[in-house]
Amino acid sequence: MPQEKDPGRIRRMFAEIAPRYDFLNHFLSLNLDRSWRQRTVGSLKLPTRARVLDTCTGTADLAVELARALRPLGGMVIGCDFTPEMLRIGEAKRRKALLENLRLVVADSLALPFPAGFFDAVTVAFGIRNVCDPGAGLQEILRVLKPGGTAAILEFSPPERGVLRAGFEVYFRKVLPVIGRWVSGSTAYAYLPNSVVQFPTRGRFAQFLQECGFEDVRISRLTFGVAVLHLARKPSAALNPAQVLAEVVAPMEERKGFGE
Ligand SMILES: C[S@@+](CC[C@H](N)C(=O)[O-])C[C@H]1O[C@@H](n2cnc3c(N)ncnc32)[C@H](O)[C@@H]1O
Repeated sequence: MPQEKDPGRIRRMFAEIAPRYDFLNHFLSLNLDRSWRQRTVGSLKLPTRARVLDTCTGTADLAVELARALRPLGGMVIGCDFTPEMLRIGEAKRRKALLENLRLVVADSLALPFPAGFFDAVTVAFGIRNVCDPGAGLQEILRVLKPGGTAAILEFSPPERGVLRAGFEVYFRKVLPVIGRWVSGSTAYAYLPNSVVQFPTRGRFAQFLQECGFEDVRISRLTFGVAVLHLARKPSAALNPAQVLAEVVAPMEERKGFGE
């Protein structure tokens, strides 16, 4: 594991920047992050009394949006993160917004303390690239989703090449660390560029989701593709026709209960 992906180091880094995280997030994204989160919530077609997990919830901006949307539907949201300092800021927002249908808990995305098939949807905003083993993180999401449930993964998306790629690199490698250090007083923002620039391009990440076992992967480019929302479904429990033949009909035929 690269040293910068060490979980202890990631946790310390987010603990350090937690007090300035929201301000920097909105400032550095020119407030676009708010609309990206709203788009994420709007893209989930959730049933009445839905249960949703927002993992790597940080200061709970997405979890709060989800809880607001689900309140009239009687649904509930759990936000989890392994950095208590980030959750503490989220908890203040939850109380201020009087959201009884939102709960925030300390938990590692690689070992989620929830039963299999528990959630109708799981969301992750700007978190999966920070998880030290993203593949294992996606497997955990798959485990806790109900069959047919949806994962929504919001991430920055490095353009593959050309002028946009160059602009992306200059912004993330040169501009952002300087502003981040200046506002937060921490060198933690020096880590962000690598995690963003090294993240798979959107086509590659969609393929990765399929390799992890998701199906029906859909991609929405947000703000000219600066960020990308991936929606992916956990395969439904229903047997497909080939499985019905192999697992149900063939054993019955083998028993040959008629005609012989
Ligand atoms: C960039 S922040 C994103 C926060 C929030 N989702 C948002 O949209 O602003 C990434 C968060 O992921 C959390 N994180 C990273 N690895 C984690 C893991 N293995 N388990 C739980 N949380 C993790 C960090 O603590 C941090 O709060």
